[in-house]
Amino acid sequence: MEQTLILVKPDGVQRGLIGAIIGRFEQRGLKLVAMKFIQMSRTLAETHYAVHKERPFYNSLVEYITSGPVVAMVWAGKDAVAAARATIGATNPVAAAPGSIRGDFAMEIGRNLVHGSDSPENAVNEVNLFFTPEERVTWNRLTDSWIQE
Ligand SMILES: Nc1ncnc2c1ncn2[C@@H]1O[C@H](COP(=O)(O)OP(=O)(O)OP(=O)(O)O)[C@@H](O)[C@H]1O
Ligand SMILES: [Mg+2]
Repeated sequence: MEQTLILVKPDGVQRGLIGAIIGRFEQRGLKLVAMKFIQMSRTLAETHYAVHKERPFYNSLVEYITSGPVVAMVWAGKDAVAAARATIGATNPVAAAPGSIRGDFAMEIGRNLVHGSDSPENAVNEVNLFFTPEERVTWNRLTDSWIQE
């Protein structure tokens, strides 16, 4: 089953939106595989956002993601990456559809609450960057057959 890395960014934690954000993924039918509450180190942040290294917003992005604790999670499901991205909404919250997390709770690109892996390949790398295999739980959810046929 495909897995994706989700982060509740520091603004989501500070604004008391952890529960609301996790609820969106739970309600959608994605299945929780791993979760931890951490302060990201600068090294972890720079590795995670290495693709943006040449972008003008890179430094502020690293500052933002390390400015306070985050909730890191792995969620699984068929097409989990695309499903989670749709639930999160467009990168710029002003353009994010109402009903998406960013469309309902955020106002600015630099405070957009959530990270979600953007491709299955990147998801594998990001999941491995944040979690060891032992930290990822394989479990049987009784509702699985009511969510995916
Ligand atoms: N033009 C910008 N100005 C400021 N911050 C930006 C800009 N573009 C992107 N960012 C920040 O960098 C993050 C990573 O950008 P990316 O293009 O990967 O968007 P995303 O995939 O929607 O977001 P994320 O990777 O956090 O899930 C964005 O979530 C946002 O916080
Ligand atoms: Mg991205």
